Amino acid sequence: MSKQPECHKRVLENMSTVVLMLDADLILEYVNPAGETLFEQSARHMMGMPYVELIQHRDEISASKWIDEIKSGQSFTRHGVPLILLNHNEVTANITILPLTSSADNTKYLIEITPVERWLRIARDEQRVEQQEVTQEILRGLAHEIKNPLGGLRGAAQLLERELPSDDLKEYTQVIISEADRLQALVNRILGPAGLPKLKDVNVHEVLELVRSLIKIEVNDKIKIHRDYDPSIPDVKADHDMLIQALLNITRNACEALKGKGNITLKTRVVRKYTIGFKRHKLVACIEVIDDGPGIPADIREKIFFPMVTSRAEGSGLGLAISQSLIQQHDGLIECQSEPGHTVFSVILPIN
Ligand SMILES: Nc1ncnc2c1ncn2[C@@H]1O[C@H](COP(=O)(O)OP(=O)(O)OP(=O)(O)O)[C@@H](O)[C@H]1O
Ligand SMILES: [Mg+2]
Repeated sequence: MSKQPECHKRVLENMSTVVLMLDADLILEYVNPAGETLFEQSARHMMGMPYVELIQHRDEISASKWIDEIKSGQSFTRHGVPLILLNHNEVTANITILPLTSSADNTKYLIEITPVERWLRIARDEQRVEQQEVTQEILRGLAHEIKNPLGGLRGAAQLLERELPSDDLKEYTQVIISEADRLQALVNRILGPAGLPKLKDVNVHEVLELVRSLIKIEVNDKIKIHRDYDPSIPDVKADHDMLIQALLNITRNACEALKGKGNITLKTRVVRKYTIGFKRHKLVACIEVIDDGPGIPADIREKIFFPMVTSRAEGSGLGLAISQSLIQQHDGLIECQSEPGHTVFSVILPIN
């Protein structure tokens, strides 16, 4: 019997639903870790805050009606309620209110919050991971098929060149050789590094600093690269070179989108309880590359992670597909949100 409160605590602490307990004056008495993640604040910091400070309803009328409803003493559930949270994040959530009355003048309120976007995102991720894996496999298969005949083609052109009666004709064999080389480079990019990731403890800030210094060489000083690092982020188990490659592709895209002028921010955060594809992780590292460029063109926004999707004349459309595949090999995921003036690419990597 004595173990039961401990067991209840563990259940609450491991739930992915946000659970709040308010006293009769709607002051916060308890919040579970899922709530700390949603509000991006520690429980200690939020304790004693009134409901109206934690959660605002998007229009004033429904806000006061909402408080009346909570205090009515009836339990109820509302779906798709738009909320503005303490951390200014806007979410749409399903909310259940359950009054807990132990005596006539001692009512507490149990509130359960399930952000709807979260479930939509998880469903979308699952589908996206599957689709991307399939396209990646087709592309790699195709690249393998091209690789061997390409070598033969190039070798034959070289032999032919030696036999040519006149040097004028070499112009043609040179075209074959240089185009074969170009294709070879493309095929190598698609096939990517051979073998499985070589995992070791990697400090994400060290990787980001390297990416930052490489990018700085490529851009002029009108592109500013800012840092917003979370110093408490633990090391991740990753392949150092693959991680650099993925982040370089993303940051290079941001530079290209800025067309010579603007801001890039490299941001890191630890996030608790995050679902990637089918797996739920206790702790993940979130590495964000944020730029204030024009945003991803609307017509390709949904398909940028597919190979050969590009808006740039000189682009091959492989950068993001390759990055996504590199990160997926670490059980991670790259997500993207974009609007004019604010584009965020988030690389999510599980921590143990
Ligand atoms: N930060 C960004 N801002 C705006 N658009 C972006 C951004 N990042 C990517 N994109 C869009 O996504 C497209 C695909 O990017 P991806 O890196 O896969 O290919 P690419 O940059 O066109 O070519 P490659 O990387 O192979 O040289 C880009 O062409 C661009 O339209
Ligand atoms: Mg690119």
